[in-house]
Amino acid sequence: MKIIEKESIAQNLTKFVVNAPLIARKTLPGQFIVLMVREEGERIPLTVVDADKKRGCITIIFQEVGYTTKLMGRLNEGDSLYSLVGPLGKPTPIKNYGKVILLGGGVGIAELLPVANALKAAGCNVTSILGGRTAELVILKDQVKRYSDEFYITTDDGSLGEKGIVTDILNRLLKKSHDYGLVFCVGPVSMMKAVADATRQAKIKTIVCLNPIMIDGTGMCGGCRVTVAGEMKFACVDGPDFNGHEVDFNELISRQKRFVQYEKHSMCKLDAQIKDMKAEGGR
Ligand SMILES: Cc1cc2nc3c(=O)[nH]c(=O)nc-3n(C[C@H](O)[C@H](O)[C@H](O)COP(=O)(O)OP(=O)(O)OC[C@H]3O[C@@H](n4cnc5c(N)ncnc54)[C@H](O)[C@@H]3O)c2cc1C
Ligand code: FES
Repeated sequence: MKIIEKESIAQNLTKFVVNAPLIARKTLPGQFIVLMVREEGERIPLTVVDADKKRGCITIIFQEVGYTTKLMGRLNEGDSLYSLVGPLGKPTPIKNYGKVILLGGGVGIAELLPVANALKAAGCNVTSILGGRTAELVILKDQVKRYSDEFYITTDDGSLGEKGIVTDILNRLLKKSHDYGLVFCVGPVSMMKAVADATRQAKIKTIVCLNPIMIDGTGMCGGCRVTVAGEMKFACVDGPDFNGHEVDFNELISRQKRFVQYEKHSMCKLDAQIKDMKAEGGR
């Protein structure tokens, strides 16, 4: 699983193109892989942003938020990942929904890109709304814009696009018209919850792409349990896309916090290791 290209696309945000011909051949929009950086490491899920069947490679974009993603950020072109499993999850249902609104927040924009491409190709009229805390965290603007008939950006600090959050624009659009066949949202859980709340009253079909803690990614460990329409679902095999109006977001938010102590502990360990390596002159 050799890394054949590495690009830094924003602060703490890196793109890898990885050699994975079998996965590239099978992947559909909305699917993800589970990878291990090294043999004794943990397994983490990442969306397949692009799959190039001809070159036999896939593109992943990751934000360095903790131990494993920081470790990945230290790899370079020519290095290899220990393992890659996929494609996993159900593909996003793609068809001509008429007018659609796509919302992406932070690194969720990477996950939105293949869906925007596929919905546009299926004949949808696409309105995209991208949001981030500051200008540099609104990634892949030109790429998403390419598939959009209408395009908006919001930033919390007003450094790019409109000052505010993505639901400000969504609410404005919904005031003018409810004539949308689909709203699709991927980003922080709080954003997906706010979007689902906004579209519930308007009765617009809303898909959210959930990111609960996943471990095996194949439905066996139970780690990614979410409650949808009162039923227990596993996001890795039943999702990651779900009807946003049926997701129990409060439960999801509390389950996301389960490993915070352990995550802090491993980050401290990694920071100490990096410091030691730098002191010894390594990378
Ligand atoms: C289906 C799916 C697709 C995803 N796609 C992307 C993507 O394209 N790009 C991207 O940057 N991130 C994506 N993520 C999130 C990514 O998996 C986590 O950021 C990563 O696992 C963090 O690991 P860490 O060890 O660096 O951080 P940690 O310090 O372990 O965790 C930091 C935070 O990351 C989340 N996280 C940690 N481990 C997992 C895990 N095994 N499963 C899910 N979330 C976890 C938790 O919210 C946690 O609080 C996706 C998650 C899911 C479930
Ligand atoms: S990640 Fe183990 S059941 Fe979904």
